[in-house]
Parts: sequence; structure tokens; C-alpha cells
Amino acid sequence: IPVDPFDLIIFGASGDLARRKILPGLFRRYRAGQMPEQARIIGAARSEMDDDEFRSFVAEAVREFGDVPYEKDILDSFLSRLGYVAVDAQGEGGWAELSSRLTGSHVRAFYFSVGPNLFGALAEKLQEHGLATPDSRMVVEKPFGHDLESARALNATLAQHFDETQIYRIDHYLGKETVQNLMAVRFGNMLFEPLWNAQYVDHIQITVSETVGVGGRGGYYDQSGAMRDMVQNHLMQLLCLIAMEPPARFEPDAVRDEKLKVIRALDPVMPHHIVRGQYHRLDGTPGYREDVENPRSTTESFVAMKCHVSNWRWAGTPFYLRTGKKLRTRASEIAVVFKDAPHSIFGAESGRHRNVLAIRLQPNEGMQLDMTIKEPGPGGMRLIDVPLDISFAEALGPDAEEIPDAYERLIMDVIRGNQTLFMRGDEVEAAWAWTDPIIAGWESRGDVPKPYDPGSSGPDDSLMLMHRDGRKWREMRL
Ligand code: BG6
Repeated sequence: IPVDPFDLIIFGASGDLARRKILPGLFRRYRAGQMPEQARIIGAARSEMDDDEFRSFVAEAVREFGDVPYEKDILDSFLSRLGYVAVDAQGEGGWAELSSRLTGSHVRAFYFSVGPNLFGALAEKLQEHGLATPDSRMVVEKPFGHDLESARALNATLAQHFDETQIYRIDHYLGKETVQNLMAVRFGNMLFEPLWNAQYVDHIQITVSETVGVGGRGGYYDQSGAMRDMVQNHLMQLLCLIAMEPPARFEPDAVRDEKLKVIRALDPVMPHHIVRGQYHRLDGTPGYREDVENPRSTTESFVAMKCHVSNWRWAGTPFYLRTGKKLRTRASEIAVVFKDAPHSIFGAESGRHRNVLAIRLQPNEGMQLDMTIKEPGPGGMRLIDVPLDISFAEALGPDAEEIPDAYERLIMDVIRGNQTLFMRGDEVEAAWAWTDPIIAGWESRGDVPKPYDPGSSGPDDSLMLMHRDGRKWREMRL
């Protein structure tokens, strides 16, 4: 769907997120014909650069991270829509110039790709110089606060200057195709929803497993850990989409109201229902503490936990979450494990069989439904589980290549003015309100994470978390 002409102003345009995700993503949308001719993208940051230098910077970013063939004409034509203004978030420099570059009739979006400490200053400058119209949109990134108090303060700062309908808080997991597919699968099919409750679902597993370590982000990550970096936002959003009641419409507040109810229904987590881990040094591979250059760090690079959503639909069905860095595989999956059939007519020797609906977020997005059938052959009624497997890339054929990545999708939603896939302020606060006591508990007990081998599936205690309940994590299949 084409979008209206827009001016997108990216604060922090020379930063890492802009270089890796935002600018290459915009190019891909342009290449896909989704960006109107009159659209303008204006980079803004502290460094002095002219338009041409910025264009070379963007060309380089597209070459490195664009994941598209090099086509000079298309790239040049995209670059001609770009400009750059050096602005000082805390001073006067550049604001008049930025103002003169904006087009009155265009949709106006300001992307705050900067640290949250600058949100307030930028918001003030936008108001002071009359750049923000009542219809302008502000895009903000995680980390949205460090805890409930700081998130509230950020929300309050933004609220001083803008209406909630203007604020787009990005959680890029909501931009992932398969994550949106969760809603399509649940609410577009008759097949699953009647079984989607504690009566039929034994438990749910959400795994986001990464092979990367903390890369060059040690300073940020060591202050955050897996709980703040992944669970409070990405895993929480996945849990909400799995657990929420059907919204009456696929509209921003209808969807976000339902997600909020899930977060508010989460029980506090018992300390013995959480396992924290930290990868250690193994052979030549440096450990977490070396990666973050903090020899005594007790920050977790892995967390596994059992949670409960205390409402009528889910009472008694545990949700197991786990995520970590430097693990064996890069694989993210949600598995809905159904209960056993109430009575086995085939006798005990037929074994235990369960239906599992697994939704693969990445890589190789798709879905798998494990079904129990008769093992072929003359050997009597022996049962086996076989997967009905849909790979979206195969099912959609060449169309799959045109699927926008998370950032592209979300930026276009900002331009369209659709907040459905963005977090509302109260949602973020509710998520922190649930996370804070867990972290405070670790701090007050002086909890030290369990070491695990890089390339493993995390500390053994995470397996025990399941075994104790007579369950096990699914093998991550690629
Ligand atoms: C980010 C986290 O929000 O998500 C990173 O800060 C993490 O630590 C990343 O690696 C994972 O995103 P994706 O899209 O690669 O699964």
C-alpha cells in the first residue's frame, strides 16, 4: 500500500541503528516502490557533515547492510531524496536550518534514534522551534527506561510535549512477519482458538536463542542483562500476543488494551522459578565478563523462567520463557504444547503423544503442527508423531522475498499513522512493574548467575526448571 508524501527526520542519523537498520530499510522500501517521489529523509546529528557526505555514508550503509543487489540508478535516485543538517540537541545550532528544510504539506515523523537522556531536550527543541505540528509523529526506541521509575519519567517528559497518539514506541519484534502471523493464526482460523486455553493447553514455551555475544555493546548490556534487554520487551510482547483475548478489531487501542490486561494478569515470579546464566570462558572463547570488561559482573546473559497468567483462560497453564546469548543456535520459537488425549485407546505401549503447534520466528519462518498418526507397516497400532510443516518462504514463493523486515514495516506504519504495532506508555510501565521486583530480588539476595558454556543451550538448571514439572524444552530444529 503506498504511503503519503513524508518528511522523516532521523536524529542520531550517524549512529549504529540508523546505519544498520533504519537507512538500509528505507532504501529497501524505496526499491520496492513504496516511497512516494516527494518523500524526504533528513539526517540530523551532532557531527558536521554536508548533504553529499551524508549520502556517501548512506550509500555505504546500504551496500553493507541493504541485502539487495547494487543498482546504481536506483541508489542514486534514493540518495537524491536525502539531506543532512547538523543539530545540537541541547543548543541552538541547526534548528532554523532544519525548519527551513521541512515541507508544510507532508506527513512529518521524527525518529529519536538517540539515547533516552536526549528525548526531553529534543522534544523541547521541536516545540520551541515550531517543528512539531499536532499531527507529527515521534518514534522512540528501546531501552524505554531502565525500570518503572525511569520509564514513568520518560513517559511524563514526552507527554509534556506530545499527545500519546503521536508517540510510536518501537519494539522491533512486533514488526516481524511471523509475530504478526501469530494474530492471523489465532484470530483468522477457527481451528485453534477453541483449544487455546488452560483446558487444552498443557504449557507454552517461548525461546529466543542467540549465538551472538554482547558484541560492542558491553557498556549498555552490562547495565541491563537479558531480563531488561529481552524479557521486559520482546518476550513480553510475544507472551501477550499468545495469551491475549481476541480484540474486537485489529485497531491500535483494541489490541493494546488486550495486551495490557495480560501483563497485569501476570503473577509475580517465584525466585525458584527463574534461572539466570552467564557464559564463561571456554577454551579460546572469551567469557561474558571479558566481553563486557567487568571481571566481577553478575549480570545475566541468559534467563529462563516459569510464569503464570492468572485469569480464566490461563489459570494453571505455565508459560516458560528463555533467552540468552552465545547459545548453540540462533532460533526463536513459540511452542503451544497441547494436553494428552484424555484416554488412550491404544494402551500404554503406544507411548505418550502430544500435539504441538510451533511457530518459528527465525530463521526459516514458518509453523509446524505435530500430529500423532499410525506408524505405517504391519506392526499393529503403533503411534508416531509427524510434523505438518509450513515454511513461509516455500508457501509464499517469490512473494516472500518482498516481505519487509521489522524496521521497514514499522517505519511505514509510522508514516501511515498506525500505532497497532507500537507499545503504549501504560503497557511499557506495566511490563516494568512486573520486571522490577524480579531484578530487585536478585539484587537484595546478591544472586550470582550460573555459568554456562558458550555454544551450549544455557545452564543445566534451565533444563531442571522443566524436568521438575515433568516437561522438557523442545529441541531447537533449524
Ligand atoms: C535487541 C537487543 O533489542 O534485540 C539485542 O537489544 C538482541 O541484544 C536483539 O540481540 C535481537 O533481535 P533479533 O531481531 O536479531 O532477534
